[in-house]
Amino acid sequence: MTFPDGFLWGAATAPHQIEGNNVNSDWWVREHRVPGMERSGDAADSYHRYPEDMRLLAEAGLNSYRFGIEWARVEPSPGHVSHAALAHYRRMIDTALGLGLTPVVTLHHFTNPLWFSEAGGWLAEDASERFAAYARAAATILEGVPWICTINEPNMLGLMVAMGRQAQAGQSPEWSSPTVEDVRRSVLPAPDPEVGRRLVEAHHAVRDLLRQHTDARVGWTVANNAFTATPGNEDRLREERYVREDLYLEAAREDDFVGVQSYSSQAVDEHGVVPHPPSPDNTLTGVAYRPDALGLAVRHTWETTGGVPVLVTENGIATADDTRRIAYTREALGHLSAAMAEGVDVRGYLHWSALDNFEWGHWKPTFGLIGVDRETFERSPKPSLAWLGRTARAGTPT
Ligand code: BGC
Repeated sequence: MTFPDGFLWGAATAPHQIEGNNVNSDWWVREHRVPGMERSGDAADSYHRYPEDMRLLAEAGLNSYRFGIEWARVEPSPGHVSHAALAHYRRMIDTALGLGLTPVVTLHHFTNPLWFSEAGGWLAEDASERFAAYARAAATILEGVPWICTINEPNMLGLMVAMGRQAQAGQSPEWSSPTVEDVRRSVLPAPDPEVGRRLVEAHHAVRDLLRQHTDARVGWTVANNAFTATPGNEDRLREERYVREDLYLEAAREDDFVGVQSYSSQAVDEHGVVPHPPSPDNTLTGVAYRPDALGLAVRHTWETTGGVPVLVTENGIATADDTRRIAYTREALGHLSAAMAEGVDVRGYLHWSALDNFEWGHWKPTFGLIGVDRETFERSPKPSLAWLGRTARAGTPT
């Protein structure tokens, strides 16, 4: 199992989950309104501590860092661009480059500015233009960034909107919405096809704009559930997979790369997607322990996009046992390497996540290579960080 020279080895994060005090975003408001939901609060205070976070990754041996720009900070009210916020994200890019970490930058990772959501969110007539205006502002600071992800997991976003709408149609709790965990582990409605259409449109518009204004490779990142059919249910599998994933993968056919995000695998039977059966082996987000999912996910992505280069933009496990994290990752890399040996063009592996962080309404599921004290913000690198760094240096798991 040897990975090629120039392979990206890194870790990934999302702004709302680590920065703290993202007060102009719709998620911040949701956390304060939905009973039982934990709040992001100061998160990992990475808004201020990103130099330390990046230094830990680089010193361990990693050569890449995926992080996001927060729209709610860059455009806190419609049309008002914060130059200070843009300068902050430029400093992050410069810090990464200075440490030898190739920046992979995400423009949208689940959170919207509150004003955007209140005006109808992705279903508003001008949603795509609004997003493009923000992307145009962001493009002014993206020089030297070789990889840009427009929208993170549009299929999960479409699904969250669908579930939120269903809840509202029922008893209309204003912000009633599932967490990422609820969405991932249960039987889900399909993503809202109308939202899906809007997201594809927004992605294409922003991809073209970024190609004009930057030198980056542009793509989006799709949640891959590595669906498999139970015997005789291949047609049902194709149907379910189309609305949940393939629509979004087909939309990536003209992209420069496609991000694969894989955690587990789920069966489809004659009734649809089968929920993860309870098991002591399940991870802290309630999903099955399936390191082989990564191989299934990259193969399916490669076939469905017709050979668009793949970047693994997320893969990891929610566990309190770091030994298990290493075992999961070692095995997942074995499946990735086997897919590459079959011809899938994979450019890098970015582990989710750099830090223990705010898991969308919960703090308990810890995905980090680095632990964080929630009061002092002290960072504690875990053995898995050193292990992944050694793997990166050697080009093969040690
Ligand atoms: C998301 C991350 C999330 C992770 C683990 C992905 O759906 O992009 O934000 O924390 O999965 O659930």
